[in-house]
Amino acid sequence: MQLIDGKAVAEQVKQEIAAQVAAMVERGEKRPHLAAILVGHDGGSETYVAAKVKACEVCGFKSTLIRFESDITEDVLLAKVAELNNDPDVDGFIVQLPLPKHINEQHVIEAIDYRKDVDGFHPINVGRMSIGLPCFISATPNGIMELLKRYNIETRGKKAVVLGRSNIVGKPMASLLMQKSNPGDCTVTVCHSHTVGIKEECLQADIIVAALGQPGFVKADMVKEGAVIIDVGTTRVPDATKKSGFRLCGDVQFDEVAPKCSFITPVPGGVGPMTICSLMKNTLLAGQKCIYE
Ligand code: GUN
Repeated sequence: MQLIDGKAVAEQVKQEIAAQVAAMVERGEKRPHLAAILVGHDGGSETYVAAKVKACEVCGFKSTLIRFESDITEDVLLAKVAELNNDPDVDGFIVQLPLPKHINEQHVIEAIDYRKDVDGFHPINVGRMSIGLPCFISATPNGIMELLKRYNIETRGKKAVVLGRSNIVGKPMASLLMQKSNPGDCTVTVCHSHTVGIKEECLQADIIVAALGQPGFVKADMVKEGAVIIDVGTTRVPDATKKSGFRLCGDVQFDEVAPKCSFITPVPGGVGPMTICSLMKNTLLAGQKCIYE
């Protein structure tokens, strides 16, 4: 069994990005600039956005954090999105999700100029990804593809099972794994809360991507000998022994599943660090105007 060290790969990719940024600045080009909008004080979102700002520093990007209280109106938020769309200094920006219930997330996502949508959530980016055109690809599935690539994991002709059908992870993951490319060329099955016979589907899989948000869902008796296991779960479980008061729990019962695998990602330190790193890659592409201009 080989542990996939997402933390180490993410550090390496960020160093590669930093070298490219240094070369851009050396040539007199503009330093890429990522802006992030954070609404409210959700603990998870605060942590993620702080990590994104920190990663920008490591990569040599300029970053701007824009904060609003959770009672902000949708109109005020949309006005800020329009302002960032029109700000030539901002290469890309994100609106951290989830948003408060009174704000329609889809309205906000669709208001973002797709050419600055470094999250890859805008329907134009989602559509372009699904037909294999250059675009901003959603960070978590893109980070997983990068891990498969860097660990030379064979995907061609393999049977992949994606657990979860979210717009952010499950759907784009299935799309990327099935695309004509390397990594890619998988035969993909997507399982969700209404799937009958999830265990039997998983037992057939050469690759399982678990993105259900259900701690410990994937157990040893669901996994084929030699399978590749990618754990996207990051549920916060109360833990008095931790300074933060919680620990991150993956969707895979790691201790019992790991001995059966050829490769497995840990939680934390697997997929999580790669997600932020993919956002950094998209920001670099936005700064270089590589995709749309
Ligand atoms: N919330 C959870 N993951 C993400 C992400 O990748 N981007 C944004 N904007 N919000 C999130």
